Amino acid sequence: MKTRITELFGIEHPIVQGGMQWVGRAEMASAVSNAGGLGIITGLTQPTPEDLTKEIERTRGMTDKSFGVNLTILPTLKPVPYQEYAEAIADSGIKIVETAGRSPEPFMPTFKAAGIKVIHKCTSVRHSVKAEAVGCDAVSVDGFECAGHPGEDDIPGLILLPCTADKLSIPFIASGGFGDARGLVAALALGADGINMGSRFMATKEAPIHDNVKQAMVAADERNTQLTNRALRNTSRVFKNEVSGKIQEIEREKGADLKIEDLAEYLSGQRGKVVFEEGKVDHGIWSAGMVVGLIDDVPSCAELISRIVREVEEIIGQRLAGLTAKVA
Ligand SMILES: Cc1cc2nc3c(=O)[nH]c(=O)nc-3n(C[C@H](O)[C@H](O)[C@H](O)COP(=O)(O)O)c2cc1C
Repeated sequence: MKTRITELFGIEHPIVQGGMQWVGRAEMASAVSNAGGLGIITGLTQPTPEDLTKEIERTRGMTDKSFGVNLTILPTLKPVPYQEYAEAIADSGIKIVETAGRSPEPFMPTFKAAGIKVIHKCTSVRHSVKAEAVGCDAVSVDGFECAGHPGEDDIPGLILLPCTADKLSIPFIASGGFGDARGLVAALALGADGINMGSRFMATKEAPIHDNVKQAMVAADERNTQLTNRALRNTSRVFKNEVSGKIQEIEREKGADLKIEDLAEYLSGQRGKVVFEEGKVDHGIWSAGMVVGLIDDVPSCAELISRIVREVEEIIGQRLAGLTAKVA
């Protein structure tokens, strides 16, 4: 399948694996790129810019296909040397960067001087328009269904994607709630040039996380996620568990007086790391999207991507073509 996204990034299928804290390591990104999608390693999973340079090299040892690096620019409990991470990416010869969170504008000169194509992850039409204006080559549009940060507008993909299509000239990738061929066909119909998946790629053989997490996702249904940090205007969609319940309880109790310190103990990223490394699924919060309702197995990335591509051809070529034939 050829779309503006496959052409822009030189990939076989219009399927991207979004940056994922603690998950987006060399094993994950190389498996997706080897299967014909675009794998992305997550910059801040590496504790320092030097470690990121090493992880990029490790990924190169596992695939000769192109892959990208995610740089997430968000408020954090500890300050992050973003410019140093941006320079490590540029110096390593990476040609595709996915930015997320705040505007990538301050880092665009570094990326553009290195010939890097930038995809900015957005949760609103206005942010997508701004990303195009500051020189991004594509945007990834995350609807309210998504894992991680859906923003504060609560607009689901069914509305956000066509609204974005009406306003952008650069290609965009539909994100949030995608897990199978039906989603990819719908995304293309809504004006996107491909899909970005996070949660679905966590439940694959190559995802470098404990099997308990993958099995929890398989067992979950579409109601198994929860929003946290609403009152702090830094909303996160996470897998529903003991800690996410505790956070909601504190949010309810404190109401408008809630401060980040009230939640700090529960929000610590290190707790999420323990979930993924040791498989203690109730130890901390971990991002997951409503698409867990569509995840029923743990295939390899190659099996997953080839299944999606095969079923897209069946849906477009048979089911949808059959419908228009009846109309005619
Ligand atoms: C475990 C996990 C960690 C994530 N961490 C990040 C991150 O560090 N930076 C980022 O831009 N997006 C992050 N995301 C969001 C994904 O890149 C992607 O936008 C999202 O998963 C799409 O929604 P989906 O899960 O419904 O496919 C994360 C998602 C998951 C599931």
